[in-house]
Amino acid sequence: MLERYIQPQFNSEQALEISRALLYVHRKRRTIRHFSQEIPEREILENAISIAATAPSGANKQPWSFALIQNPIAKTEIRRKAEKEELDFYKLKPNKQWLKDLEHLHTNEEKAFIEQAPYLIVIFYSHFNRAEVGLEKHYYAKESAGIATGMLISALHLAGLATLTYTPKRMQFLSDFCNRSRDEKPFLLLAVGHPHPEAEVPKITKKNLSDILQTWD
Ligand SMILES: Cc1cc2nc3c(=O)[nH]c(=O)nc-3n(C[C@H](O)[C@H](O)[C@H](O)COP(=O)(O)O)c2cc1C
Repeated sequence: MLERYIQPQFNSEQALEISRALLYVHRKRRTIRHFSQEIPEREILENAISIAATAPSGANKQPWSFALIQNPIAKTEIRRKAEKEELDFYKLKPNKQWLKDLEHLHTNEEKAFIEQAPYLIVIFYSHFNRAEVGLEKHYYAKESAGIATGMLISALHLAGLATLTYTPKRMQFLSDFCNRSRDEKPFLLLAVGHPHPEAEVPKITKKNLSDILQTWD
């Protein structure tokens, strides 16, 4: 069944103004690794997740789900499990090239932000859904989850919150912790909150438009 689509309309002046404002604000986004204890309104998190859930997805299968974690005991447990993985990554089985590429971020096996951040969001994706009628296949599940996650990060940023995209090399512990089935794969963990007043970020640059964009006019 089809229905008529009515797009929210802006005149060209408004559209330009909005796109410039969005560019300006997005250029201010940075990954934060040191959070303040101030607890943001939970509705901001829920609304951001609802925004992520509006993302396009292969055949509209919406192959994502989210876990929102505020409980301090849960965060401590996740930190403990994450740091076990990180010990492997940084110390026991180091990949020298990878660690060299990470040097400028000053990260290490300690992941205090997991406990400091007021909220953690785990994003899961799945390649299929075991419905009663049989296996329902999801298409481009990982790509769809990536798009939803980008929208989530953007929505949180636009609402004044900072995020840390966290991807321990092995993330199965997140599925186990959240009691997810083997079908649900952790995509990544987002730590969310306000930046600590003394938070510092690595000095980095982003590629120019001319370096990343090919055009045919
Ligand atoms: C898929 C992905 C995985 C990442 N994993 C980690 C991580 O495990 N730990 C971390 O400290 N930062 C992680 N980051 C954050 C990046 O280091 C950061 O985005 C990058 O250095 C650019 O900095 P910016 O976000 O401030 O622009 C990750 C980012 C992405 C997109």
